Amino acid sequence: MFDKLIHQPDDPLLALIGLYRADARAGKVDLGVGVYRDEQGATPIFRAVKAAERRLVENQATKSYVGPEGDPVFVERLWELTAGAAGRERPTAGVQTPGGSGAVRLAADLLARMGVKRIWLGVPTWPNHPAIFKAAGLAIATHPYFDVPSQAILFDQMAEALKGANAGDAVLLHASCHNPSGGVLSSEQWTALSALIAERGLIPLIDSAYQGFGKGLDADSAGLRKVLAAVPEALVAVSCSKNFGLYRERTGAVYAVASSKDAAQSVRTNFVSIARANYSMPPDHGAAIVSEILGDEALKADWMAELETMRRRVASIRVKLAAGLSRRWQVLTAMAEQEGMFSLLPLEEADVLRLRHDHGIYMPGSARINIAGLKTAEVDAVVEKFLSL
Ligand code: LMR
Repeated sequence: MFDKLIHQPDDPLLALIGLYRADARAGKVDLGVGVYRDEQGATPIFRAVKAAERRLVENQATKSYVGPEGDPVFVERLWELTAGAAGRERPTAGVQTPGGSGAVRLAADLLARMGVKRIWLGVPTWPNHPAIFKAAGLAIATHPYFDVPSQAILFDQMAEALKGANAGDAVLLHASCHNPSGGVLSSEQWTALSALIAERGLIPLIDSAYQGFGKGLDADSAGLRKVLAAVPEALVAVSCSKNFGLYRERTGAVYAVASSKDAAQSVRTNFVSIARANYSMPPDHGAAIVSEILGDEALKADWMAELETMRRRVASIRVKLAAGLSRRWQVLTAMAEQEGMFSLLPLEEADVLRLRHDHGIYMPGSARINIAGLKTAEVDAVVEKFLSL
C-alpha cells in the first residue's frame, strides 16, 4: 500500500538548513530560514528565558497533562501583549497551540467548520500559508500585495481585489514584518483596509509571528489592533518562536474575537475539539516560560530590552545592506524602509544558485533573504558578491 504514495518534495526552506550545514566552506553565509542570529552567528537563548527555565526546574510541581486548551494564564498574558486594549472587554476565545503554524492550522480548521469556503492570501506570502489552508480544505483566492521589481506595496490593487471577495470569505493578514517581503502597510492603509474588511463582511485572520522585530512591540501590533476595533469577528494566530527565541519549543496561541460571550464560548469548545482530534494537547515548556516572563516585571523588562537590541541589530544591518545593494539595484533603497528579518531581492533563481555555488551564500529560490543571518562585519564582503553577479 505504501508504494501507492507519491513522493513529496522537501520543503525548500527547510531543505536549505541541511544544504547549509553540509557546506564545509569557512565563509559561508546563511540567509535562509527565518531565525535571529547575533554578531557571532549564534541564535541565543534570551537571558529571561534561561532565568524562567531555572525557576521552572525549581518550582514546577508536576508534568501531568495541561489539557487541549493549554495554560489559560499563558493564553491571557500573550493576548494582552498582542492585542492590548483592543482585546480587553471583547468576548475572546484563546487556546495555546504548537507554535504559530499550529495556531494558523487551528484557525484554518475552525474556518472550515464554520462553513467558510475561501481565504484570500496576498502574493507573495509565506509558502506554508497556502499549504495549511489547502490541508484544511479551504479554497484559496489571491490578491496582489508586493511587487518585487519595484519593491512597492500594491495597496490599491489589493483593495480592488478584496472588493471582489464574497461576504463570509476569510482574509489572511500579516500583523508586521511581512514574510517574505518586509514591505508593510502604512497606518492609513491599515485604517482603509480595516474599513474595507468590515464593509465587505470578511473575516480577518491575522498572523502575528514577528511582534517586536519591526518598529517595536506595541507599534508592531498597531495594525492588528485597528482591525480588531473595526470588525465584529476576527481570528489571530500568535507565534512566540522569534520574539521569545523559542523556535523548537513550539509555542503559540490562537484567538477568536467574537460578537458575544456565547459565540466565544462556542468557538472555545471547537478549538478544543479540533486540538484534541489533532495533537490532543500542546507542549507545555515554551508556554510556561513565556507565562513566567510576562508575569514578572523584572523578567519582562529584561526580555523587552534584549528583544529591542535584536530589533536594532537587524534594522542597522538592513540599512547597511540597502545602501550597498542599491549601488547596483537602485530600487533596493526601499529595503531600508522595510521591516523585520526579510526582504525579497529582484534576482533570478539562476543568480540565487550562483551565489550558493560560487560563494556559499544561501537563500531560497525566491531570493528572500533573512537579514538577521548577517554579521555587521561581513556585510560589505557579501554586498561585493551580490554586485559581482
Ligand atoms: C521562515 O519563514 O523562515 C520561518 O517562518 C520558518 C518556517 O517555518 O518557515
